[in-house]
Amino acid sequence: MLKGRHLIDPEDFTLDELEEIFSLADEIIENPKAFNKICDGYLLGSLFFEPSTRTRLSFESAMLRLGGTVVGFSEPNSSSVAKGESLPDTIRTVACYADIIAMRHPKEGAPNFASPFCEIPLINGGDGGHQHPTQTLTDLLTIRVAKKRFDNLVVGVCGDLKFGRTVHSLIKAMSRYEGVKFIMISPNELKVPNYIRNEILDAKNIEYMEVERLEEVIDKLDILYMTRVQRERFFNEADYIRLKDSYILDKEKMSHAKDDMIVLHPLPRVTEIKMEVDDDPRAWYFRQAKYGMFVRMALIAKLLGVR
Ligand code: CP
Repeated sequence: MLKGRHLIDPEDFTLDELEEIFSLADEIIENPKAFNKICDGYLLGSLFFEPSTRTRLSFESAMLRLGGTVVGFSEPNSSSVAKGESLPDTIRTVACYADIIAMRHPKEGAPNFASPFCEIPLINGGDGGHQHPTQTLTDLLTIRVAKKRFDNLVVGVCGDLKFGRTVHSLIKAMSRYEGVKFIMISPNELKVPNYIRNEILDAKNIEYMEVERLEEVIDKLDILYMTRVQRERFFNEADYIRLKDSYILDKEKMSHAKDDMIVLHPLPRVTEIKMEVDDDPRAWYFRQAKYGMFVRMALIAKLLGVR
């Protein structure tokens, strides 16, 4: 039963519950008009304490396309946070007005801290460099459409694996399926945090390797998940500038990949995928952004318990 639940971490829902969300997303994709009134009278609180294009606008589009309405802010200085209001007080207040909340916050663990104060479903739209579970729903729905399965896939994650919350959530989620192997491609300074290696990969006996060069492994991948170097999480600009162009996917590199490999990227992209790759049928990242709206429609409907 998903009605009334929070979504803070990618493992909050069972695999069967995820399947329920994906099945509903399939139905919505098939016939979106059939769902355009199901949230009539419901209101989404959209609280974005950090910049966003896809997550905020896809949540807001999702609610509007379900017939609901939206209140919120995308600039925290326009709310009473600027006067020193605490996160629990902000959440308690918005829960008086809205039926469901999507929140992005720069501090790791903020949604976990806020959720006990929230009497309505609270959805983590990304917390600092920690987790981004609804991006993972987006990624999984895209993989399900493209590959027709989650098991026995070789998943390459490339770029900023230290600060990239979408990668942390994807590894958590994909490591729940049989026979998935990870190839983690990053500079030494941007490797995945130890808790991902120890508490997820090693604890579950998942096969993985860590390499620095994409060229060494691109021919082995079923999925290539590119990420940008997360400038906003660096302590100094010089390190960012040194590392920002570590990986640039271009046509030449794509020529060594499998014909049915798919390229995913949570976006925004900076320089890590050249625009010349966009026309390659294996480039799925803009389709992925669209699936993000459909899966959030399904998530909102399930958490509100409407049909
Ligand atoms: N993928 C993602 O989280 O994008 P935004 O930062 O634009 O929301």
